[in-house]
Amino acid sequence: MTARPRVVVTRRLPAAVEERLSREFEAKLNRDDRPLEAAGLQQALRESDAVLCTVTDRLNAEVLSAEPLKARILSNFGVGFNHIDLAAAKSRGLVVTNTPEVLTEDTADDAIMLMLMVARRGGEGERHVRAGAWTGWRPTHMLGTKVSGKTLGLVGMGRIARAVARRAHGGFGMQVIFHDPVAPPPNVVSELGASPRGTLDDVFREADFVSLHCPATPETRHLVDARRLKLMKQGAFLINTARGDVVDEAALIAALADGTIAGAGLDVYEREPKVSPELLGLENVVLLPHLGSATRETREAMGYRALENLTAFFSGAQPRDRVV
Ligand code: DGY
Repeated sequence: MTARPRVVVTRRLPAAVEERLSREFEAKLNRDDRPLEAAGLQQALRESDAVLCTVTDRLNAEVLSAEPLKARILSNFGVGFNHIDLAAAKSRGLVVTNTPEVLTEDTADDAIMLMLMVARRGGEGERHVRAGAWTGWRPTHMLGTKVSGKTLGLVGMGRIARAVARRAHGGFGMQVIFHDPVAPPPNVVSELGASPRGTLDDVFREADFVSLHCPATPETRHLVDARRLKLMKQGAFLINTARGDVVDEAALIAALADGTIAGAGLDVYEREPKVSPELLGLENVVLLPHLGSATRETREAMGYRALENLTAFFSGAQPRDRVV
């Protein structure tokens, strides 16, 4: 019998996924669920055939320079891979895979949840009731902003943005506008009732809600800066379920504090898991702990997808979700 490939799993995964991993591979699980940090990741690269990693693992060029390198594949649990230096991985001969598609619907739900929460003051209202401060219904109490029929501006028009557009247009009768440097097929755009804008600035100027759906790359770092925030309508809201460093968090805090924009719904942060203390003190921002894909069903699907990529790779086939 040939030895099963050794896989180091960097974080706790849903039990059913861990069980299957342990059946099919010589899996080293992370039962304490503590992030491995640089030294632990390097150890994993030296002792395993594969590392099943995720967004909390900073796999930069230095970490990936581990010697002697034994691992041949990084199977990422998650669709985003900005935590992996792809050029360094490629130069070390490492294959990298991710888990697209399976988390599209949940992440779109998360964006809609944030949009509703911030516009209808859901977080604030919940804190109000829990604090015992509610004195009863009255016509002028805690008035929010209507969502139905408004204009939603999407930054990017990939899978998740399209799922948000379907919900917003079909469910809330919103007009959807977007900008994406890679134009989606015209039939997709018309099915969604969406209309493109020539520049991102146009989207920021026209939308009542701007929702971010672009990857984190050097080009998109601080794409939402003080200048773009000033382009937004005073009553507009920013929603971020993409990646924290797409937004200049200091500029956002200033815009929320001085009323440049009405509010923001954030699932991701520039220095995650650190959240700027100034955000914690603002009522017009809803703060969630990177929950985009956080349902039992989806986290299992992500795990199986990461596992399938490993199985394909070690059987000599091309993994379905190969990134490099
Ligand atoms: C993803 O899949 O990229 C999510 O943000 C979780 O990491």
